[in-house]
Amino acid sequence: MDQYRVFGNPIKHSRSPFIHQSFARSTNQPLNYETSLVELNGFTQAVNDFISQGGRGVNVTVPFKEEALEIADELSERARLAGAVNTLSFSHGKIYGDNTDGEGLVQDLLRNNVQIKKSRVLLLGAGGAAKGVILPLLAQSPASIAIANRTVSKADTLIEQFNDNRLSACGFEQTSGNAYDVIINATSASLSGKLPEIPVSVITEQTVCYDMVYGKELTPFLVWAKAQGAAKVIDGVGMLVGQAAESFTIWRGIKPEVNAVIKQLKASLAQE
Ligand code: ATR
Repeated sequence: MDQYRVFGNPIKHSRSPFIHQSFARSTNQPLNYETSLVELNGFTQAVNDFISQGGRGVNVTVPFKEEALEIADELSERARLAGAVNTLSFSHGKIYGDNTDGEGLVQDLLRNNVQIKKSRVLLLGAGGAAKGVILPLLAQSPASIAIANRTVSKADTLIEQFNDNRLSACGFEQTSGNAYDVIINATSASLSGKLPEIPVSVITEQTVCYDMVYGKELTPFLVWAKAQGAAKVIDGVGMLVGQAAESFTIWRGIKPEVNAVIKQLKASLAQE
């Protein structure tokens, strides 16, 4: 049976085996997908060992996404611009690196009937998570993407790498008075129960708010956005399943259906 893994550290709580095994069942693809806890200095070795055992592909998560970019013989454009790889494929003696995170976000927005085309998008954060979604978002033809970060200089540096006049950079307070159709929280603030301090005026009753983080409860950002009267709030469960679906498609050449898996994951999160 074809073997796949997700490499990370920590990895115990990864949902990827559940997601990929569900896809494998629903598409009748015989494959095995498991987690691998990789030592912090052992990523390259772990990849090479897996390749020599006949492994077909690997998902890569924290903290190895940049190392995965280095190890790839060939990279997709979106992985190169994201500066990170979450999907490795092994074939014909070569390592192919791709990044499906941004497409996972885009697909989840579209699945939720959120229009990106011609929309004014506000992206909060300028770290790896923000960087990974910029090219796939631009490919959906938004009117503009403003990147707001607590440390403004990082947002400035980020947009320089893309050279696209739909992108702008600012601090949180400079968003005040602007209206946005879609606000995406790509900061890691939610992971520590914090709220990015953006002005309340950016939320209107037409604004859709998305948080890349997910959990049992709504994130602080989504609770806040809801209280400000946002049209819709969406957490990152669908993005997680969406990026997995993209990886699965790369590996198996068949696009799995995501809705049932998202529903099951949400139900299992609610029980935790
Ligand atoms: P990731 O790969 O998850 O993006 P990262 O590269 O460490 O992680 O980036 C974290 C991002 O979250 C940064 O944009 C960071 O802002 P700074 O550049 O100003 O540090 C942002 N962030 C983290 N905690 C935050 C908080 N409490 N409020 C606002 N932004 C926060």
